[in-house]
Amino acid sequence: MAILVTGGLGYIGSHTVVELLNNNFEVVIVDDLSNTERFILKNIEEITGKRPVFYPFDLKRRELLTQVFDAHHIEGCINFAASKAVGESQLKPIDYYENNLFSLINILQEFKERGISNFIFSSSCTVYGQADKMPIDENTPLKMPESVYGKTKQMGEEILSDFAKAYQRKVSLLRYFNPIGAHPSAKLGELPIGIPNNLVPYVMQTAAGVREKLNIWGNDYPTEDGTAVRDYIYVVDLAKAHVAALQKLMQSTSEEALIDIYNLGTGKGSSVMEVVKAFELANIVEVPYQICDRREGDITIAYANADKAERELGWKSETSLEEALKTVWEWQKYLETRNTEIKL
Ligand code: WQD
Repeated sequence: MAILVTGGLGYIGSHTVVELLNNNFEVVIVDDLSNTERFILKNIEEITGKRPVFYPFDLKRRELLTQVFDAHHIEGCINFAASKAVGESQLKPIDYYENNLFSLINILQEFKERGISNFIFSSSCTVYGQADKMPIDENTPLKMPESVYGKTKQMGEEILSDFAKAYQRKVSLLRYFNPIGAHPSAKLGELPIGIPNNLVPYVMQTAAGVREKLNIWGNDYPTEDGTAVRDYIYVVDLAKAHVAALQKLMQSTSEEALIDIYNLGTGKGSSVMEVVKAFELANIVEVPYQICDRREGDITIAYANADKAERELGWKSETSLEEALKTVWEWQKYLETRNTEIKL
């Protein structure tokens, strides 16, 4: 019995594979290596002492996916594989719809035909848009996301809800807030391929001198210091939530709801400026920055009410912002030791 982890060599996927292996799950990874590198597999093995089965192919290739389902007794899936760059999704909408939705549908076809249940979907707080009140709980009304990337997440949720109801299967929709940090071993983290869009990788590279200055997108928001507020959740905490969500799905009885939805965040908002200062303090480094105009499509504030995950999964975020940011700096140092392979 194995768990299929798509995108299992990616940022959140690789951390989750480690937690699954540590909890004695058998793991089968499918990843097309479009946004990661092969050495992550070796590092997973170094951390856990176990080597998961790995297939390098694009999930749009249904015939290859069928072979994986033929070869393994798959009893659940955590689906991380997706394109995730917000800006790029606006420029390449059809590629985003094709990649994110066809791959999902291909897995669900296999699930449908083989009677498999237990599907965990990587969703995002972006499905809430700018919510009217904080913190955001799971009953907060969804808004049409600004980006194509966000729309693929909302559509994915709808496809899975229909799948669950029509075929009586269990699914869990996990809405991540802003994942940050790296593995404490410094062997896994977010690979900075190209110019980072997200705040923490950009801060990391600025502190390392790879980027000259951090651009802070706007200091005229109606927040305490004028910079936008998000809920930064440590990636290892986030990975553990997947194991808890999977265990709940696998243990649930037929009387329980078919669709679980959880917000995964810390419950605490931090401003861009607070993140920059916390990074400087945690790592005793300087992060030069300049204030710029607001970035198009950004919201002012988003932080989670994650009480439902605590109540039903027994999970809560445990790692402070400072601790998470320390792991980011250790990861950067690790990357510098292998800089020949990293595309900056
Ligand atoms: C955080 C804050 C920026 C970079 C996006 C996706 C979301 C999710 C995570 C992913 C904002 C500010 C950033 C910089 C800055 N999904 N910022 N200078 O926009 O909250 O969420 O990524 O896979 O769906 O929309 O995250 O890290 O880009 O930005 O000032 O160089 O940092 O304006 O306020 P965001 P982020």
